[in-house]
Formats: sequence, structure tokens, C-alpha cells
Amino acid sequence: MSDHRSPVAPDVVRLPEYTKTDQEEILGKGDDPFGVASAGLTWLPKEEHFGIRHEGRLVAHTGLLRLPVAIGDTRTEVVGVGGVAVAPGMQGRGLARLVVTAALAHARTMGPQHALLFCRPPLVPLYERLGWHLVDEDVRVEQPEGRLVTMPLRTMVTPLRDDARWASEPVRLFSLPM
Ligand SMILES: CC(C)(COP(=O)(O)OP(=O)(O)OC[C@H]1O[C@@H](n2cnc3c(N)ncnc32)[C@H](O)[C@@H]1OP(=O)(O)O)[C@@H](O)C(=O)NCCC(=O)NCCS
Repeated sequence: MSDHRSPVAPDVVRLPEYTKTDQEEILGKGDDPFGVASAGLTWLPKEEHFGIRHEGRLVAHTGLLRLPVAIGDTRTEVVGVGGVAVAPGMQGRGLARLVVTAALAHARTMGPQHALLFCRPPLVPLYERLGWHLVDEDVRVEQPEGRLVTMPLRTMVTPLRDDARWASEPVRLFSLPM
């Protein structure tokens, strides 16, 4: 643990809901707070939400939902992770690690063997540091009007069980990306 971190880790709480206003409380009102607008994708809201409050303000979030996928020919489900966000003034203090770790602890109770997320290439080393692995194969996701597109962002996975093994095969999400 580095010096700038608080010796007392803040609590991660389950949020009953997560609105656009909540997201703006964390990241502000910018047009493209996740830096993914150029990908031109339509995203799915998450269903379960975890957050960290600091002095009464929401400063970090991670969302989850179960999603149907095919990995090669195998139909299964993954836990999709998205909306990972830490307030700009609170970044670099381990809050993403805390909130993602807490969300993954819950994801382990949801059934699927793996969690999956999409991120911009510069965030790959950060998620690797948190125990995620890059998916090298193509990942296709749904978009409005039944369009199927190859995900232009990086796809990463992490196991949710000790015996989970990710098959290196193309992935097809039967939903919008999260
Ligand atoms: C991405 C984001 C969530 C990271 O939040 P953060 O609180 O600064 O991250 P943390 O401080 O918890 O860092 C997590 C780990 O990654 C490491 N890390 C951070 N940047 C890194 C980099 N470029 N390379 C390697 N590791 C890195 C940290 O050292 C830390 O590891 P440690 O706990 O072992 O020391 C935050 O910058 C953010 O909200 N950005 C805007 C929204 C966004 O892009 N979200 C991502 C959606 S996929």
C-alpha cells in the first residue's frame, strides 16, 4: 500500500439504484466521461451497483449484471462489469481496486464462472493489476436494430471460481455491451 492511501479503507456499499445524477456526482457532467464515445456503441445499464461515499458524496462506482454469451460454441452466462468510475479528485488512491473487488465478491455469488468487462486500451494494465486478463479473440456484441458488431474496445475477463478456465475462443454477447 502506498503512502497517499488512507490507513482506514472506506466502506463499499450496495447502492439501491444508480442514476445519471449519481454518475455525474462521481465523474461530472462531461459528454464522454468514460472516453468511449468514439466507439459509437449503445450500452446496457447495469443492474447491481456498488459504491463508495466520502464526506456524503458518491465518489466511486462499479455495476454488474448477468449476461448470456457464447464462448466458441458453448452457451453460458458471464457477469458483465461496467460503469467503473472514481471521482477525478479521488483517483490513484485505490478506490477502483476497492469497489471492483467488492463487486466481484458479490459476482461470485451470482452463478457465472467469469466476469467480463470492456475498456479503453490504456486501462488494460490497471485491470491486469486487479487480476483481469485480456481476451485476444474477437468479441461480437449486439447493437440496436439487431446489428452485430465486433467490439472495438479491449475485452478482459477474470475468473469467479478457483476452477474456472477461460476457453480462448471467439465470444458472442447476446445483448448490448455493458
Ligand atoms: C479508471 C479509474 C476507475 C481508476 O480508478 P482509481 O481509483 O484511480 O484506480 P486505483 O487507484 O484503484 O488503481 C487500481 C490499481 O491499478 C494500478 N494502476 C493504475 N494505473 C495504472 C497503470 N497505468 N498501469 C498499471 N497499473 C495501474 C494502481 O496502482 C492500483 O494498483 P494497486 O492497488 O496494486 O496499487 C478512474 O481513473 C476513472 O474513473 N476514470 C474515468 C472513468 C473510466 O474511464 N472508467 C473505466 C471504465 S472501464
